[in-house]
Amino acid sequence: GWPVAIAFVVAYLIGSIPFGFLITRLAGAGDIRTIGSGNIGATNVLRTGRKSLALLTLLADLLKGAVPVWVAFGLLGPEAGLAAGAATVLGHCFPVWLSFKGGKGVATAAGVILALTPLVLVPILAVFIIVVWLTRYVSLGSMLAAALAPIVALLLGHEGPALLFLGLALLIVAKHGPNLGRLIGGTESKVSFSSRR
Ligand code: G3P
Repeated sequence: GWPVAIAFVVAYLIGSIPFGFLITRLAGAGDIRTIGSGNIGATNVLRTGRKSLALLTLLADLLKGAVPVWVAFGLLGPEAGLAAGAATVLGHCFPVWLSFKGGKGVATAAGVILALTPLVLVPILAVFIIVVWLTRYVSLGSMLAAALAPIVALLLGHEGPALLFLGLALLIVAKHGPNLGRLIGGTESKVSFSSRR
């Protein structure tokens, strides 16, 4: 019905706001699309060497996932919450403001999971942190965590969210196509948290 449609459209427009692009540009750190992987996400903002900008991007993209879901769920009900969750990640990945060339959806999907089923985030965040810690590949941690989300949701009895998380996982893995190629070819860039790069 119309509440679900309204939630979808509004959440898509909010998800479309390219915070990584805006934050780096406003900070005078250049056009993020010409740096590193060219992605607009926090991982790539970290490659500017400006950790605070990366943290800000991570928080903004996370909230961009969580807030529309919280609001839609609270005002319009669970179906609208799920629709908002799908739409905000689609907005991030295919933003109307950047000719539909957007990010990979990881932080925004994490925000959606936080808002819908916070417990699901605990084990998948642990897997993400361990994989990134051990391999230094954020992309690998992202894909594994995304793939685990629908399984964990199902195990915890959240069938509706599990279906949404399966869709988000497929989108996230599809968006990581170039990363997959680099991982297989051994040329994927490793993340560094030290000040000197
Ligand atoms: O959040 C996206 C991350 O998994 C990979 O980013 O810039 O290395 O392609 P990037």
